[in-house]
Amino acid sequence: MLSGVCEALAAEGTRLTLLSRRASAWRGAVVEAFDCDYRDEAGFASAVDAAVAHSGPVDVAVAWFHSVRLPANRRLAERIGAGTLVQVLGSATADPAHPDRLETARAVAEGLRCRLRQVVLGFQVEAGRSRWLTDREISLGVLGAVHRDDLVTVVGSVEPWSARP
Ligand SMILES: NC(=O)c1ccc[n+]([C@@H]2O[C@H](COP(=O)([O-])OP(=O)(O)OC[C@H]3O[C@@H](n4cnc5c(N)ncnc54)[C@H](OP(=O)(O)O)[C@@H]3O)[C@@H](O)[C@H]2O)c1
Repeated sequence: MLSGVCEALAAEGTRLTLLSRRASAWRGAVVEAFDCDYRDEAGFASAVDAAVAHSGPVDVAVAWFHSVRLPANRRLAERIGAGTLVQVLGSATADPAHPDRLETARAVAEGLRCRLRQVVLGFQVEAGRSRWLTDREISLGVLGAVHRDDLVTVVGSVEPWSARP
């Protein structure tokens, strides 16, 4: 869903590093690839260290993890230094029944030097019907957040919550 972000940043001339389980299989824009599983805390931390050793300090990290509770979130934030961490979060972060979730997600950067920016993936309501975002909408929304630098960005909408697909 974030491949559009990779392509757009590459087109802007950004030097990109991709970390995922099959990063080296990526066939899009030129990137440095480091295969790793973010559920393997030590392996993930080693991959980020290797990426920084290879490519230099991180300016911007766009991060998608299935859960903010995974230790890899903190391991990444620690390695960003004074760079920007763009944290992509699922719509459940905006659930009004759990108003603490955005704050809980922020805790991954607590006490660290990195600049945290949060992006909540919402949904679209069109002609009275709602649907989830497309990959393109997600990538455009995340890219906009990278460029605008707002503390919190909602892609699409999260209100009214009862309209969630
Ligand atoms: N709000 C909305 O409208 C909306 C719309 C679409 C999706 N979403 C949410 O976004 C989520 C992501 O969807 P997705 O279909 O793109 O699937 P995904 O399985 O989360 O994959 C996204 C990326 O993460 C990497 N990845 C996944 N597990 C990993 C791991 N353990 N370690 C390292 N990298 C890992 C994958 O690359 P590798 O396979 O190479 O590891 C892939 O490039 C969905 O679960 C959904 O909740 C929300």
